[in-house]
Amino acid sequence: MDIVVSGIRPTGNLHLGNYFGALKSFVKMQEENQCFFFIADYHSLTTHPTPADLHGNVKTVLVEFLACGLDPEKATLYIQSDLPETAELYLLLNMNAYIGELERCTSFKEKIRTQPQNVNAGLLTYPTLMAADIIIHRAAKVPVGKDQEQHLEMTRTFANRFNRLYSVDFFPEPVAFNFGENLVKIPGLDGSLKMSKSENENNSIFLADSPEVIRKKVMKAVTDSGPVDPGQPRSQGVINLFDLMSYFSAPDVVNHFEGTYQSGNIRYGDMKKQLAEDIILFTTPFREKMMALAADESYLKKVAALGAEKARASAAKTVREVREIIGFKSF
Ligand code: ADP
Ligand code: TRP
Repeated sequence: MDIVVSGIRPTGNLHLGNYFGALKSFVKMQEENQCFFFIADYHSLTTHPTPADLHGNVKTVLVEFLACGLDPEKATLYIQSDLPETAELYLLLNMNAYIGELERCTSFKEKIRTQPQNVNAGLLTYPTLMAADIIIHRAAKVPVGKDQEQHLEMTRTFANRFNRLYSVDFFPEPVAFNFGENLVKIPGLDGSLKMSKSENENNSIFLADSPEVIRKKVMKAVTDSGPVDPGQPRSQGVINLFDLMSYFSAPDVVNHFEGTYQSGNIRYGDMKKQLAEDIILFTTPFREKMMALAADESYLKKVAALGAEKARASAAKTVREVREIIGFKSF
């Protein structure tokens, strides 16, 4: 039995990438591990949400966690800001994180490029806050998508550096993990390599999207003018469509369209119609549960309170021990 930690920032509805990259593993891992899954609301402050948006998005993610099958009795489900211990560990880790390594982080460089008007210190120290989230429960495994690999590498660096500095073997080295498979990257519908909510609205399908919206988005997905020579490399849009189909459609359906592609007879319109219906079949049960849960404020309140209590017990123990290792002693 491993200690497992992961979080998702509350920035709106969750999409299929979030599900296959992270949430699906959460649901499986809760059965046999000691799991802590949280809503990373401290992290989301780097984009300065309004108080109403912040609260609304936290609720959305909590509802979607539960609708996807996370069980508050099996896993500890909590909201990051309910654990001030995380903020303390973050402060302590920052003393040992070097500006150079933080500046070299790919996600930071990307933010400098995409939002040069808001390069705040929270963005620079995003990896130390994420490391604090993980090592505060002394986790071994972190279910995340492929884009988080570098952050996990930095977490290991910070954990090791702490151990070395104080000559202790206190923090384990956590690894990025996907249940049963390699790390996953779900592509976008717009021909880009990653489905991501920060991209344009036609890039992503959300678990909460209605069937009409799903059909509209899939029908608009980027393809090309058809296979000129099936032996030639495929366009990214077509690669993405086949990749998405492999997650939602039965193998014989995938084989059918693979065959029509190879013979040069594929009609992307037919393939998209099929894909849209298969995605709708997949998301409909989640969507129905979301609607019921969103109306049950008292249950959500109970879930958050139970999670905060369990998570704080674990976090407070770690921080107490860290303070002792560092040399904060009471007189
Ligand atoms: P986004 O990129 O849409 O802002 P987040 O960064 O909030 O999504 O990601 C939350 C979790 O979902 C992380 O574990 C991340 O690795 C995973 N994830 C996000 N997009 C994808 C994707 N396209 N494929 C696989 N996993 C993804
Ligand atoms: N950085 C993650 C993301 O953008 C979210 C996150 C914050 C996280 N803290 C974490 C993921 C700890 C795993 C473990 O998706």
